Amino acid sequence: MNSYKISKLQVTNFRNLNPDIVTFTNGINCILGENGNGKTNILEAIHVLATKKSFRKNTSFPQFLSIDGEKPEIIFSSVIEDDQHQKHSYSSKMTNDSIFWYLDGAPIKRRLDIKVVFINPFDSYGFHNSASDRREWIDYFLSQLDEQYKKNLSKYNQAIRFRNALLSKKPSKYKEQIVASDGELSALSVALTGRRIDFLKEIEPYIGDTFQQIFSEKHKLQINLDSRIIGLSAANVHKVFLNNLETDCERGHTSYGPHKDDYVLLFDGLNSFDFCSLGQQKMSYLSLLFAYIELFRYKYMSFPIVLIDDVSGELDQHRWRRLVEYLEKREFQVLITTANEKFKEELDRISGANMIFIKGGSVIH
Ligand SMILES: Nc1ncnc2c1ncn2[C@@H]1O[C@H](COP(=O)(O)OP(=O)(O)O)[C@@H](O)[C@H]1O
Ligand SMILES: [Mg+2]
Repeated sequence: MNSYKISKLQVTNFRNLNPDIVTFTNGINCILGENGNGKTNILEAIHVLATKKSFRKNTSFPQFLSIDGEKPEIIFSSVIEDDQHQKHSYSSKMTNDSIFWYLDGAPIKRRLDIKVVFINPFDSYGFHNSASDRREWIDYFLSQLDEQYKKNLSKYNQAIRFRNALLSKKPSKYKEQIVASDGELSALSVALTGRRIDFLKEIEPYIGDTFQQIFSEKHKLQINLDSRIIGLSAANVHKVFLNNLETDCERGHTSYGPHKDDYVLLFDGLNSFDFCSLGQQKMSYLSLLFAYIELFRYKYMSFPIVLIDDVSGELDQHRWRRLVEYLEKREFQVLITTANEKFKEELDRISGANMIFIKGGSVIH
């Protein structure tokens, strides 16, 4: 797999950003500035260029488009560097209903597969408090690692939406159709569950390690799948769907399946949600993300671009210092934003770090 770093970015009509050229180094890039000036918007622009999507929920073109934009069109222009240190111009033109990609000046049919990982320490709260956030987290990262999982998940979600649509109408009329299509749903359920279990097994050795490397404390971290599908064959899962059909008809939706599964993060054997302080939860969450990046490297011999947003005073200075030291030792490209003066002091100590100051959507030199 090819991996990319971003060297330059210029956007036109994207949120509050002016079309300045922002230059990045291959190592640590710090994006500094007071709140509301456009730091997160820079990370978002890179995320959209790389994946078409934002990391903010329910956000697409209408939200991206600058309210002052003269034309309903966003242009992303960038210079990216590949594994062989070759630079390429890569750009995209986005409107409400279309998106075009250009590599070295020529149109391309499919966008490049630029991997990014977005990290916001505040997301730790959602991860610890909401099962659907946990599911989304795993699905998102596992999909980045495994194309087949992504395809199966999308098929499964489509099948569940269709099933629920039938269940919410007149189920008696559609029962036969539901039972028939539950065969495929069962096979997909088994495939998704198996892959989730394998993924957790793959990532587990890295979590405790990254925790120790970043925060110099030794803890055992584990993440387990809590699912009613574990160990069942597709035929048995099909039976459960059948047994639940009456209840599903009454409720008007599907009450069983991998879309209902959950994950438990264990901290020294105890549920991190109940047991950990908010700081420890945040540390565990960050360790999980960096464990994912390590796993990614192990699998593909390459790193994603790491976007870390809104590092603030939530962890104490000592912990942030450790995190910065950890980042300094890594080979990945990091873009890290902060409005926090104390954390800025930590970043100032990094030799060779690229400092980018943002004010009112512009780069200040
Ligand atoms: N579509 C848009 N057009 C113009 N400005 C926008 C748009 N969306 C958000 N903004 C502005 O972007 C700013 C927030 O930028 P953000 O990157 O989140 O700031 P921060 O530096 O705190 O990370 C706000 O001032 C907001 O008004
Ligand atoms: Mg921000």
